[in-house]
Amino acid sequence: MSLLTNLDGVIGPTAHISVLDRGFLYGDSVYEVVRTFQGRLFGLQEHLDRLRQSADSIYMRVPWSDSQIQAEVERTLQQTHWLESYVRIVVSRGTETKVSLQPSRDLKPSLLIVISEIDPQPQLSQIGIHLQVVNRLRNDHRALSPAAKTGNYLNNILALLEAQQQGADDALLLNGQGQVTEATTSNLWIVRQGSVQTPPPSVGILQGITRHFLVQILQRHQIPYAETLLLPSDLTQAEEAFLSSSVRLLMPINRIDQMPLPHCPGPMTRWLWDELLAEMDRAVTENIPLAQSA
Ligand SMILES: Cc1ncc(COP(=O)(O)O)c(C=O)c1O
Repeated sequence: MSLLTNLDGVIGPTAHISVLDRGFLYGDSVYEVVRTFQGRLFGLQEHLDRLRQSADSIYMRVPWSDSQIQAEVERTLQQTHWLESYVRIVVSRGTETKVSLQPSRDLKPSLLIVISEIDPQPQLSQIGIHLQVVNRLRNDHRALSPAAKTGNYLNNILALLEAQQQGADDALLLNGQGQVTEATTSNLWIVRQGSVQTPPPSVGILQGITRHFLVQILQRHQIPYAETLLLPSDLTQAEEAFLSSSVRLLMPINRIDQMPLPHCPGPMTRWLWDELLAEMDRAVTENIPLAQSA
């Protein structure tokens, strides 16, 4: 497998984490997944902003500036020869000297960058995926915040396994009020009655960077769009539905529970796919520093 790592500045094909690393022991870490597009990092600033928000929400300090993290990511990327890359940026709270839930005072966070090769030609799936509404709930705001992207994804992993045990590809999680939130690693969108709708942050979601770019596209083109509280029964009115995330971009949904979607991929999904790729093209050409140009 094509993989390159950078652990605290040391670049190599793999890296070794201490058994006393808090990210390893407790998922006590935050992370981001960024992708390159045309060999350049897409949306890095937005991802670094969210990395800091995630760190704040778990009282973790990120001791490096954005430009220091960017420089490390670019230095690592320059040692790959892949056309397009998946870039995972992980900050662990640090390594303890003994097993202890209580974080030591003098912990030094570590920075891990993992890069792997991805498909150089992103293509909209023509098959789509089957989502299952699962019993497991999305984290409550008062527990580990769903808005924080931390190394503790066990709840989402369990939701995914539950969905797969029922023959689906991914899970759709509800919150404690029975409202639709998101899938295990992506935001949900539906199209109904000429309007593009996605659940609001208040229901408990990770506010996706792809979601943010899609909102900008919809607003720029004055397409009816709304953040809407959705119940599972509302999904039966969807003419099309899709997921969004940095790596998959848009993934059409072919079925939710036992209900097939009328269009997969639907016309809005196809249009947004083209617009998103055009937006990514513009963004990397205009203002994001080259990851692989040096
Ligand atoms: C729970 C969850 N929701 C949504 C997303 C989509 O976020 P983004 O578009 O920033 O990749 C992710 C991405 O990993 C996620 O883990």
